[in-house]
Amino acid sequence: MEELEIIKPDDWHVHFRDNDILKVVVPETTKHFARAIVMPNLTPPILNGKQAIEYKERIIKIIPKTHNFEPLMTIYLTENTNKSELYDSYQEGHVFAAKLYPAGATTNSDSGVRDIKKIMPVLEKMAKVGMPLLIHGEVTHKEIDIFDREKVFIDQNLDFICKELPELKITLEHITTKEATEYVDEGNENLFASITPHHLALNRNSIFVGGIRPHNYCLPILKREKHRKALIKVATNGNRKFFLGTDTAPHLKGDKENACGCAGVFNASYCISILAQIFENYKCLQNLEKFTSINGAQHYGIPINNEKILIKKEKNPILFKKSLSVGCSEIVVFNPEFPVFWKVA
Ligand code: NCD
Ligand code: ZN
Repeated sequence: MEELEIIKPDDWHVHFRDNDILKVVVPETTKHFARAIVMPNLTPPILNGKQAIEYKERIIKIIPKTHNFEPLMTIYLTENTNKSELYDSYQEGHVFAAKLYPAGATTNSDSGVRDIKKIMPVLEKMAKVGMPLLIHGEVTHKEIDIFDREKVFIDQNLDFICKELPELKITLEHITTKEATEYVDEGNENLFASITPHHLALNRNSIFVGGIRPHNYCLPILKREKHRKALIKVATNGNRKFFLGTDTAPHLKGDKENACGCAGVFNASYCISILAQIFENYKCLQNLEKFTSINGAQHYGIPINNEKILIKKEKNPILFKKSLSVGCSEIVVFNPEFPVFWKVA
């Protein structure tokens, strides 16, 4: 197959940031995606409908006129989130979902939730009205090994939420382990999961090839090959419970190449090309569209996109630009370091 037309993809998890970075990264997403769920972990975080509306306006100003794109806004849950305010902003259509960050789990998550039981009334309300809950599924206890944090979160927290509120629409975001694929696949009807291109492309060796590789450092951290294979299986076989959330997470180069480097991979620029290559490598190109453009919309109960995009296979591997300029700094673009022949036309 040298050419493939698919329904225009959606990205169910992006970090657009704000100010100078926002200006540079938004068009990289809007050129290939019709919609994206925008993460609320700014500093300070997006805590209410008013802040979400203002942030959305800042994003919309930057979308190039030729790109047809809708940002879907989220609220950052804290132990003080007011459930009727949350409900109002959902009902009025300003906010699409709420995001649960365990406190300290990742970039700008200090105001996250320490005790899940404290937010159960909010989650009950969300379940009642059909508002989706997005979860960064990692525990943060210092004694738990960083490679086990997702599995322990499933055992200690997610299972509790799913049993208490089986009707709550949940996305376990950016899953990284075999255990997560199994828990989601066999779990509640309303439990789905998103997967990033970098967790499909790389295993944890890529953080340490010949030296430390800060641009492959993200959270949840890359895992062993057996986990990557499990992600590949559920993504490429078209399983309806799994869909794309890129978790594209730009940081300035100096903040990544640092004695205490930030977590995050900026993958928006070549995401669809990389995915097409991976799906072709596993002889599953026919299922790419389900992963990028159908399963997620069905989970969220919204129409799939009308527009289509054309992906073409080139004779030679495509050349990736190395970075995007932001003032006098730059954002390094994710490159999986295997040949990628597919180009979005
Ligand atoms: C994200 C970020 O930088 O905001 N980083 C990351 O490694 N994915 C935070 C997140 O989604 O966990
Ligand atoms: Zn993220």
